Amino acid sequence: MLLSMIVAYAENEKGEQVIGKDNALPWDIKKDMVWFREQTSGSVVVMGRKTYESIGRTLPNRDNIILSSDPEYKVEGAYTFTDLDAALEFANVQNHEVFIIGGESLYTQCIGRVDRLYVTYIKGKKYEGDSFFPKWSLSDFKPIQKEKSEDEVNGTVNYTIFQRVKFTNKQIDPLANSTYTSNGGGV
Ligand SMILES: NC(=O)c1ccc[n+]([C@@H]2O[C@H](COP(=O)([O-])OP(=O)(O)OC[C@H]3O[C@@H](n4cnc5c(N)ncnc54)[C@H](OP(=O)(O)O)[C@@H]3O)[C@@H](O)[C@H]2O)c1
Repeated sequence: MLLSMIVAYAENEKGEQVIGKDNALPWDIKKDMVWFREQTSGSVVVMGRKTYESIGRTLPNRDNIILSSDPEYKVEGAYTFTDLDAALEFANVQNHEVFIIGGESLYTQCIGRVDRLYVTYIKGKKYEGDSFFPKWSLSDFKPIQKEKSEDEVNGTVNYTIFQRVKFTNKQIDPLANSTYTSNGGGV
């Protein structure tokens, strides 16, 4: 399994990496939405319950995994887990690339173990927020693909894929306590 993480962040006035405000994205960048869809389509996406509720629906053409500590939490068309390692072990047999898609709590738990980072860096504008991407070091990752675009509101936006320099994808506990809830139709 290739374990990846995809995030969009901007800096606030303190230089922190802002990812959200009031359980939503603080910006609306169409190109970033397209980038996110293109990178994650056909793969598995793993998210926290709050991010799922912020999106408000499962993501099509992807296996959706949602984490909640509530074993009764069920979502049509998604796999729900109460344990991160069990979710990743399950994802491992589902697909070759698995994306952690947020939010702050998932990023914080997984930043030390991902092989790849897909970072949208909104460089041209500062944003204030209440959710943040954890600190990470450029010395642990090398860029393997770079693109940039100019956005009317945000100026330069960088899209970079980083590969961890040293492979550290840790072994995960093969538990299988998942529940799949059918939505009765295609996802
Ligand atoms: N800019 C970006 O790229 C991006 C991407 C995604 C999200 N976001 C933003 O991030 C913010 C949300 O982040 P957040 O940290 O508040 O919420 P979150 O990570 O989306 O969800 C947190 C919830 O996930 C569940 N959870 C997390 N780890 C778990 C574990 N190991 N085992 C079981 N359940 C677990 C818990 O649900 P229960 O409470 O049900 O137990 C927890 O309360 C929003 O503002 C959102 O817009 C930004």
